[in-house]
Parts: sequence; C-alpha cells; structure tokens
Amino acid sequence: MRIIEKISEMQQQSEAWRRDGRKIMLVPTMGYFHDGHLDLMRKARSLGDISVVSIFVNPTQFGVGEDFDRYPRDVDRDFRLASNEGVDVVFLPSSQEMYPEGFQTYVEVSEVTKPLCGKSRPGHFKGVATVVVKLFCIVKPHAAIFGEKDFQQLVTIQRMVQDLNMDVEIVAHPIVREPDGLAMSSRNKYLGAVDRERALLLSRSLHEARRLISSGERNGEEVLRRVREILDSGGDMKIDYVELCRPDDLKEVSSIGSPTLLALAAYLGHTRLIDNCMLIPKE
Ligand code: PAJ
Repeated sequence: MRIIEKISEMQQQSEAWRRDGRKIMLVPTMGYFHDGHLDLMRKARSLGDISVVSIFVNPTQFGVGEDFDRYPRDVDRDFRLASNEGVDVVFLPSSQEMYPEGFQTYVEVSEVTKPLCGKSRPGHFKGVATVVVKLFCIVKPHAAIFGEKDFQQLVTIQRMVQDLNMDVEIVAHPIVREPDGLAMSSRNKYLGAVDRERALLLSRSLHEARRLISSGERNGEEVLRRVREILDSGGDMKIDYVELCRPDDLKEVSSIGSPTLLALAAYLGHTRLIDNCMLIPKE
C-alpha cells in the first residue's frame, strides 16, 4: 500500500490508472478507522480495480468550538487497517497542501443543507462539499463511497454531483453498528462508560419507531413523541433534533405514507452523536 501526501503525485498516479483503463474507487474519510470505514473500503475493492482512501481531518467543516483540535487521530493504526483491507493508496495531505495561503473558493449546496445538522452546524456542509470536490479533482475517481450514517452528507454530495454534472458515481453504504446497536463513529471514543450505555438510547429509539410503523402507526407527531420520550429517559442527554423527512430532498413530513427518513442528533456531555433509519410503511 502506498501513502501519497502530495496532490500532484496523486493526480499523476490517477491519470496513469485512467490511461490503463482501471476503475478508481475513492473512500473519503477523516481517519481513526472503525469497522464502518473498513466496510466502505471492502465495498470499494469489490466494485473497482483501484481503491484509494483519503485521510484528512478537514478544518473547514468544523465550527468554532467544535472538536477539530481533539478529533481522534492515529494514522499508523489506520495504515495497518487499510493495508489489511487491500487498499492501494492512502492519500494523506496536510492542511497546508489542501488549503494553501490565498485559498478562497467554496462550494455551497443550498436547500438540503439547511435542516437537521445544518441548523446547529452552520457552514459544516460547505466545508464538506468543498473538500469532497477537491478530493474528486485530486483522486479523479470513477466512483466514491459514502455511508448512510451521515445521511445528510450523502444527500448533499448526491445533489452537488448532479447539479454540477460531476462525472463521479456516488455509492451509498448502510450504517454499520456495534453488536449492541450503537452506530459506529470515531467520536464514540469520547464516551465514558455511563454515556456509552446512554448512547444506546439512540438506536433503541429508532428501533421503537420502526416497531410503531410496522404496527400501523402513520402519524409523524406520535412517532416523534415516542422517540423523544425514549431519548429523554437518558437523563443527561440533550436532544439537538429529531425529525422526519423525505429521503431525497430532506423536506420535513408530518405523516409516514412512503419511505421516510427518521434522523436524530443528541449531545451526551460534549459529544454529539447522530443516527438515522428509514421508516418503510407496508400496506
Ligand atoms: P468520516 O466521519 O471519517 O466518515 C467517512 C465515511 O465513513 C463517511 O462516508 C461516513 O458516512 C462513513 N461512516 C462513518 N461511520 C459509519 C458507519 N457507522 N457506518 C457506515 N458508514 C460510516 O464523513 C466524513 O468523514 C467527512 O465528512 C468526509 C466525507 C471525509 C469529508 O471530510
């Protein structure tokens, strides 16, 4: 497995692969790998000829007071794990390489970034969209894989690729969970034992919502009320949002007549966790 730090070297390598007719897959990440990331890498390998994983803790997607400085990092461990998955190249640029002095061009996707995480993290998706476009221009992938764990991010990237006619296929990957249901996240490392236990309420509340739907409930308010009740039972958990929306444009809905995204975010102490699931009403 090669480690490439320079943009020009990555671009030349990708050009050479393209000339040889190889299908390049990209998995963009901020590192500190867990099994969710590794699953994305496995999918990349199965769908293409060359798999590139980028590791870059992107400063422009963190707001003031967020966890950029303490975001967990361990590149040596990441190299080992990626290598075990048969990744061909880890692209590991520095901040200076990605955002040299004078940088001033950003990509903003307007409507789908407004609700959900967009409300409490202004500017976050602008940073995400910008870095992802840069990674596409550097790695020149035929396809890129994104997890449904960050559903709004996935929708934002899909919208951007469509709006700007970018020639990259976006592949979605389902949420990978711990055996007890907690959605895997690099930020789970922040959780102490008590909060780790409380964090289970997120996936439990989603589970309860799905149960309600399968027993015939279609009233959005009723589903949201029950989800909030479960989250509130965690005492110190602070709900950021619990919302029902259309999966394609993230517009809020009040009843569940077609597949509906149930998305939530909550703070456990300083740690912000997100989770979501699709509610699929059967006739
Ligand atoms: P990061 O949080 O490292 O996540 C990298 C990719 O892994 C994203 O596509 C994310 O949705 C996916 N992922 C994370 N946890 C997952 C889980 N439990 N199951 C399935 N997929 C999971 O998302 C980012 O980095 C950044 O915003 C990035 C896209 C790299 C731009 O900086």
